[in-house]
Amino acid sequence: MLSYRHAFHAGNVADVLKHVVLVALLDHLAAKDKPFLYLETHAGAGRYDLGSPAARQNREHAGGIGRIWGRSDLPAAVARYLALVREHNGPGRLRYYPGSPWFAQRLLRPQDRLVVYELHPAEVAPLAALLAGDRRAEVLAEDGFAGVIARLPPLERRGLVLIDPAYEVKDDYVQVIETLAQAHRRFATGVYVIWYPVVDRHRIEAMERAVRRSGIRRVHQVELDIGPGPSRMTACGLLLVNPPWTLPPLLAAALPWLADVLGHEGRGGFVTRELVGEG
Ligand SMILES: C[S@@+](CC[C@H](N)C(=O)[O-])C[C@H]1O[C@@H](n2cnc3c(N)ncnc32)[C@H](O)[C@@H]1O
Repeated sequence: MLSYRHAFHAGNVADVLKHVVLVALLDHLAAKDKPFLYLETHAGAGRYDLGSPAARQNREHAGGIGRIWGRSDLPAAVARYLALVREHNGPGRLRYYPGSPWFAQRLLRPQDRLVVYELHPAEVAPLAALLAGDRRAEVLAEDGFAGVIARLPPLERRGLVLIDPAYEVKDDYVQVIETLAQAHRRFATGVYVIWYPVVDRHRIEAMERAVRRSGIRRVHQVELDIGPGPSRMTACGLLLVNPPWTLPPLLAAALPWLADVLGHEGRGGFVTRELVGEG
């Protein structure tokens, strides 16, 4: 039933974009003393061995984190992200790639909580082991789309929700927006992040129309275009609801750099735009 395994893709271009932005958002939320909740619909294993047979099959990480690892000319948001990946690895070469739950666990304070959903039994076991003993954390082996709705609004009244499915089921393109709309009705002030791959552009255009129809305001869109290459995915993007004011300047510096470094044969590009405004 579930055939997607993130180990084949860990540390690729998509992970880099998603995690650079995730770290910036978590840093922003953690800058205020008040507690917040980190909620994730599709958490994965939390950590990946880049030397495993799965990761070595297509070496997707080589085109993502592998291109950044040795660089020193980094924009601020990428430098912050890379410092955390380095910390996860310890001294020496790049061997492990941290998943989104690791970044969240690392950046949460004692007063914060994380609740993460993951359905695949082979991913749940390492994820639960990673977060074991952390009293702030809950791992649920349940459907994340339904799960997050039940958790909103958070007691803390502050929160970040990451919706990051694999899109192996085409219905995911529809369900991400339906989940966002339901979640937003319960918790309109939350920060939401939806990750998406650009394989068929018409599916993304349909998502954009659904967001506009939903009535949700303050939606920002970011895309990193890597051009035609070995993967069917030529770009990936994020829909961000209620992005903090600290994010646009970080993106303005990071995106051109990422497009330049990660694009195939110098053909990278990016988009950063307001999809739905405030009014
Ligand atoms: C793209 S990966 C997650 C990567 C992770 N968010 C990260 O950035 O490190 C998607 C994960 O969703 C899991 N999954 C698929 N359907 C799910 C569902 N309905 N609810 C929860 N998890 C699901 C898959 O097993 C897979 O591990």
